[in-house]
Amino acid sequence: MKLFLDTASIADVRRAAPWGVISGVTTNPTLLAKEGGVPYRQRIEEIAAVIDGPISAECITRTAEELVAEARTLASWHPNVVVKIPIDNEGLKAIHRCSQEGIRVNVTLVFSANQALLAALAGAAYISPFVGRIDDTGGEGMEVVRQSVAIIEQHRLGAQVIAASLRHPLHVTEAALAGSHIGTVPPAVLEQMLRHPLTDAGIARFLEDARKAGL
Ligand code: E4P
Repeated sequence: MKLFLDTASIADVRRAAPWGVISGVTTNPTLLAKEGGVPYRQRIEEIAAVIDGPISAECITRTAEELVAEARTLASWHPNVVVKIPIDNEGLKAIHRCSQEGIRVNVTLVFSANQALLAALAGAAYISPFVGRIDDTGGEGMEVVRQSVAIIEQHRLGAQVIAASLRHPLHVTEAALAGSHIGTVPPAVLEQMLRHPLTDAGIARFLEDARKAGL
């Protein structure tokens, strides 16, 4: 499973990039709103200068006509931009038209395997089930990831599943085990994945013993 970083913070992207584990970035309006009014295009270009992989930028219009026009604009910002479109009646039309034009779409706000199937059939490049938000409603988010991956692979539909709305390290492990092609992780979760108190204690002990051994 590949990892994307789920953030609009260029500082977070710059901190994680040298680790060599991040192959793309996902943004959304909520994440951008935390960035103090930075223009969306500027931030996408800044991120694309650091990470050489798919950078998702989200559409905020509602009709298919508007979504396609907006998708063309977002896609023109950088060759690595992937356009996020929410799945609904208008969204599905826009996803199909974008895919026919060669604009890669990350279908967002996916909450069921059937939505994932529709997105894949319409031509989505990426499909993002929102695991944490499904869990919040008493559902089992990871089951939607597992079913979506199985449907896409069994029927060779060509899309990649991005396990999104991941809230803690166990979500990441479970997404990988569920066969998700990609997991998009918030910076805090990436840090949590890295850290283990026994690693810290072990490093401290080895350094202390190295001094005792005269190394
Ligand atoms: C990523 O594509 C999603 O927009 C993001 O993971 C949503 O996460 P949230 O449910 O924590 O807002």
